[in-house]
Amino acid sequence: MLTVGKLMKVFVTRRIPQEGMKILSAAGVCEVSLWDSDEPVPREELLKGVQGAHGLLCLLSDRVDAEVLDAAAAVSLIPGPNLKVISTLSVGFDHMALDEIKKRGIRVGYTPDVLTDATAELTIALLLATARRLPEGVEEVKNGGWSSWKPLWLCGYGLSGSTVGVIGLGRIGMAIARRLMPFGVKRLLYSGRTAKAHAAEVNGEFVPLDTLVSESDFIIVSCSLTPETQGLCDKAFFRKMKNTAVFVNSSRGAVVNQEDLYEALSSGQIAAAGLDVTTPEPLPTNHPLLTLKNCVVLPHIGSATYSTRGIMAALSAQNLLGGLRGTDMPSELTF
Ligand code: NDP
Ligand code: DGY
Repeated sequence: MLTVGKLMKVFVTRRIPQEGMKILSAAGVCEVSLWDSDEPVPREELLKGVQGAHGLLCLLSDRVDAEVLDAAAAVSLIPGPNLKVISTLSVGFDHMALDEIKKRGIRVGYTPDVLTDATAELTIALLLATARRLPEGVEEVKNGGWSSWKPLWLCGYGLSGSTVGVIGLGRIGMAIARRLMPFGVKRLLYSGRTAKAHAAEVNGEFVPLDTLVSESDFIIVSCSLTPETQGLCDKAFFRKMKNTAVFVNSSRGAVVNQEDLYEALSSGQIAAAGLDVTTPEPLPTNHPLLTLKNCVVLPHIGSATYSTRGIMAALSAQNLLGGLRGTDMPSELTF
């Protein structure tokens, strides 16, 4: 518990929207130290900044592992570990070593729901941009490649009458499926660990992954990154896809084997791919995927609307305060 008169120490690993910082300053329970930059905190500064902290507000680019947790506890003046709460400004939590965090009894806050609409919207935008070749079209207008209206020029694939496969019909997967329905999608397949009651709303058919892969015209990956989903989309996966099919990933880059994806795209094994997430991030500008016209790569902007990021910051601040005070958090991760 907080000793009266003493402020708890919080380390925030990046400049975050003011909505979050205002909540932390107004609470009067913590002294905030901020990595005051738009760029990620270097590892050594993270290890330094977290020392003696009661709360850590981090981002998906900060690897929170045993080394960070040990650094938090390594302060000779204050006996024993202080860290009570880690609040991540993300719904994804694959950057955190949950087993180590659990061992130390630290609570975790995250930001589900508030970014679902923004991420689903961006995924649809990416799917359409990829399937209808928007970046190529824009480029042709600029570089003089647009000579006249031509019957087969820049043709792509449409959603009407198609079969769409969603890998991971969770919050975001479901929001994507809902948005797809008005486009006239004929069948909505989904895969995951268990069938979902909410799938009925979009007439979703729970199918084995192999069926989804071989029958879909569009495949959208919206599952979380776990040991089971890491590298799920590999050579064998792409070989089963139709060669007219479009692949979209807005979950985490590591779900995809990018060498195998490059091979599938460059050999015509599949039609096109749209990626909002890659490994690593940023993707090096000389990466082979960036040489392909049929691959659209975005810089992980699924949740990037001003209002969503403000709400995420506010929620992560409230989560942090709940953890510091030992009260409920609006969104606590159970693990
Ligand atoms: P949810 O927890 O609601 O959904 C995750 C889904 O993943 C569940 O439906 C789950 O299905 C599925 N899943 C888990 N294991 C597997 C598996 N082995 N095979 C197939 N599916 C599996 O999370 P959200 O929808 O809120 O977010 C999903 C992910 O999206 C986040 O973890 C994050 O990585 C990513 N994300 C990316 C953003 C971006 O900017 N691009 C923005 C926000 C999130 P089941 O229940 O059956 O296990
Ligand atoms: C998340 O929240 O996990 C996203 O990747 C960024 O919003």
